[in-house]
Amino acid sequence: MKPTRAPQTYRVKSFGCQMNVYDGERMGELLAEQGITPAAEGEEADLVILNTCHIREKAAEKVYSDIGRLVAAGKEKGKAPLIAVAGCVAQAEGEEIMARAPAVSIVVGPQAYHRLPAMIAEATRGRRATDTDMPAIAKFDALPARAKRGPSAFLTVQEGCDKFCTYCVVPYTRGAEISRPFNDLIAEAHRLVEQGAKEITLLGQNVNAWSGEDDKGRRVGLGGLIRRLAVIDGLERIRYTTSHPKDMDDDLIAAHGEVEKLMPYLHLPVQSGNDRVLKAMNRQHSAESYLKIIEKVRAARPDIALSGDFIVGFPGESEAEFADTLKLVDEVRYAACFSFKFSPRPGTPAATMEGQVAADVMDDRLQRLQARIAAHQLAFNEASLGKTCTVLVERRGRHPGQWLGKSPWLQSVHFTGDHAIGDLVEVELAAAGPNSLSGRVRTAVAV
Ligand code: SAH
Ligand code: SF4
Ligand code: F3S
Repeated sequence: MKPTRAPQTYRVKSFGCQMNVYDGERMGELLAEQGITPAAEGEEADLVILNTCHIREKAAEKVYSDIGRLVAAGKEKGKAPLIAVAGCVAQAEGEEIMARAPAVSIVVGPQAYHRLPAMIAEATRGRRATDTDMPAIAKFDALPARAKRGPSAFLTVQEGCDKFCTYCVVPYTRGAEISRPFNDLIAEAHRLVEQGAKEITLLGQNVNAWSGEDDKGRRVGLGGLIRRLAVIDGLERIRYTTSHPKDMDDDLIAAHGEVEKLMPYLHLPVQSGNDRVLKAMNRQHSAESYLKIIEKVRAARPDIALSGDFIVGFPGESEAEFADTLKLVDEVRYAACFSFKFSPRPGTPAATMEGQVAADVMDDRLQRLQARIAAHQLAFNEASLGKTCTVLVERRGRHPGQWLGKSPWLQSVHFTGDHAIGDLVEVELAAAGPNSLSGRVRTAVAV
């Protein structure tokens, strides 16, 4: 590799979960501190960071096609960008990337990106740099203060996973479960609110496994953290994702009934409705224990919108076992869901299990599951018609005077009127589609 000029502009492309979006923002803030600014829309950046996802094969393969595209564009323009691969593919396949893609200068794992400035300096001297260490949470102390964002902000409170579901790469790419300290989180939340955030979504691979010591030295879980965050003036809405059923404790459930700022939405992945499959997945819960939690959550907050994740075609899944998943979907009546075909991931136990399910069977099951989920989603949206709720304005719509925002139940709502991004607007829900609603503005809420 030849030495190059230090980069002046950057672009981060984040794939995968919201945690990667958060990390992408943090990398940007770190680069801004070095005087490297975001490339203008439509312009080539000097440094491109591919912030990758390893969860399914398709996601992981994307990185190589993206690198190819960057190299081709660089040749055409006679100026190649510095390419950095970050995120979970970097963690899982760092060495392979370096061997397979000579155009990549930097490979940096999700726990090491605070060292990016030094790695960029290495790369400009013509030396390729790799860092996939997993120092326990050191990166947060090394990152600069949060910069200005939109009205809805992410805040990572917990990272990593100790659950080892047999299909999943996350425990390997993100490391062990770690909770960030209470006081650091309160400080970061204050800073986000000062920068204009009205809503904060707390993030973690198992966000409800968060635990810490509050300002009085008491041991608290995520419910305790949410109660404390709710006291912050100017913060209007709190959300959290993603939760594991095993960590859904009574205090967090109670918070749904007691904390007004905690939005009535819970993403609680279940993956399957069949106990044999759940056991083979090492999910550490049964269909019944999952439904019990849902019952408790609904008792605390009757209007709560529920969402989940599903995998179809896990090794050995029979038609009857898949039917149990459909049954569970009907019992819960989800407001939204994410569903995936099983993807065998290298190094995970499920990848080499007996009874791998044929692709056409998986396609068929995914289609049937998604049709069922879509019907419930539409029913949920239709049941909201006539309700008046507060919508947080997030961006302009496609038509003049149109705005888009989220209802408390995380539905996308569009409406027209004289508003601004960040406004909280009282909207009557007037028409429902499967993926969004339209509303009529009642009155703007002063904040
Ligand atoms: N920690 C979260 C989510 C992690 S990944 C949880 O446990 O709920 C997000 C979703 O991707 C998972 O919930 C699962 O539905 C899906 N997923 C993970 N590994 C997968 C694989 N190998 N094949 C298909 N889907 C997968
Ligand atoms: Fe993956 Fe399971 Fe951990 Fe979720 S709980 S990140 S699915 S291992
Ligand atoms: Fe993907 Fe890593 Fe998130 S594998 S889903 S980016 S934790």
